[in-house]
Amino acid sequence: MPVLEGKELRIVAFLCNWCSYGGADTAGVARATQPTDLRIIRVPCSGRIDPLFVLRALLNGADGVLISGCHPNDCHYSAGNFYARRRLEVLKQFLPILGIDDRRFEYTWVSASEGQRWQQVVTSFTQRIHELGPAPRLEDAEPLLEMADMALKPLRPLGTGQKAPLDELKACIKSKIKDLDVVIGWQQGYDAAHTVPLFMRTEEDVDRLVWGPFNVNNPATYVNEMIGKAVPLDKVKKIGVVVKGCDSRSIVEMLQEKLIDKDNIVLFALPCEGTFDMARIDRELGRYSQIDKVEYDEAGVTITADGKPHRFCITDYAQGKCYNCSMPLAKDADDIFGTAPEIKGTPSTPPELAMLDAMTLEQRFSFWKGEMDRCLRCYACRNACPLCVCKDYCIAETREPHFISQEWNVREKIYFQYIHAMHLAGRCTLCGECQRACPVGIPILALRQQLVRIIGQLFNYKSGMDSTATPPLLCYKVEETNIKQREL
Ligand code: FES
Repeated sequence: MPVLEGKELRIVAFLCNWCSYGGADTAGVARATQPTDLRIIRVPCSGRIDPLFVLRALLNGADGVLISGCHPNDCHYSAGNFYARRRLEVLKQFLPILGIDDRRFEYTWVSASEGQRWQQVVTSFTQRIHELGPAPRLEDAEPLLEMADMALKPLRPLGTGQKAPLDELKACIKSKIKDLDVVIGWQQGYDAAHTVPLFMRTEEDVDRLVWGPFNVNNPATYVNEMIGKAVPLDKVKKIGVVVKGCDSRSIVEMLQEKLIDKDNIVLFALPCEGTFDMARIDRELGRYSQIDKVEYDEAGVTITADGKPHRFCITDYAQGKCYNCSMPLAKDADDIFGTAPEIKGTPSTPPELAMLDAMTLEQRFSFWKGEMDRCLRCYACRNACPLCVCKDYCIAETREPHFISQEWNVREKIYFQYIHAMHLAGRCTLCGECQRACPVGIPILALRQQLVRIIGQLFNYKSGMDSTATPPLLCYKVEETNIKQREL
């Protein structure tokens, strides 16, 4: 059939070989008239479709993407479409944060005998895309750079943690260190206003352990490399980790995914009173040749750099995640010192996400074009992520399969950041290490925050809270409570 309204748009359709492809064939054999905008790609099952296929199509010139598989309960591989349904629904709700209209993407189910239904699906989807018109192109978008206002009202009093029972913790670690290969914590870095990870193997090492608002790194980042399932059995160690509440969630998530064994890890915990956003502190300090001293009080610190004092109140300079933190003390730790403060109120929308929420689709599209153009593809975000556990085989670099190229353009950079975010869907605990590690300060945490929000709404799930729970994209329900079939 005739092209709708005399012009043809580009629609990519991924069809499951066993049902929908047969349905399209049935419609063809029956000579049912259909729009000609569709370019069909046959896949073995809807479960085979990586969400990247959809984004690639949409950013490479497609005006719409349609996915169709077997009806629920009819999948040739029994559950491929159930897994796909969860993944595709998350994707559909995620696209708007990138500035892509979610009506340009749809998924549905058509069986091999439903030639008539296929005709109706394809006609109504094509009609919808024609109403929307050609998709915006990255090349045409004007880059937009905006910064979020980071300060929020905290859910509990923030402080500098100087009254935390650090000596008790040190005594406990010393009593256990002979049974552990290493204990990970923090020590002073190149000056008193920065810390670096500390790997304690002796009692003298334990004396270097520090606690306070400069302990920004998530020590869970090192855990998988030491005791993960990819480590040869004879090299697996028994380790200890000193954790803040947010760090402990990364470890709980690793236990959930069976990446590590609880027998190989001991968690030590102190109540966290918040950590500094070091990017903002460094920006405020400006250029300096040396930090002379750091003085603490309950509300913040005074950093003297090159003889000039700078005051930083923790309530003004905390990391975005600290304002919304409702778990300052790790709940599943083996040795806990101190008590958790009372949490008052409910978390508000994180600042980066609130900024994007206030934008139009066009503005978001331009925003990510501007921000991703600055990405160096240094992979610091990936390397700092405690749950990016396949770094050695990362599809961002692999040539087999060759998902994304090393070409230096915004599109490839968006693909990388998008893959990184989607691989964390239902797993990310919002520790913020990706954004903190980014040397150019791209607010990539917003992508994870949006995924966490979607996962919470769809599956009523929060990652890293229960070591016995199954992450929602690793399971399915035959009848999904919050995913409704959209009719085409
Ligand atoms: Fe058709 Fe799985 S075989 S959706």
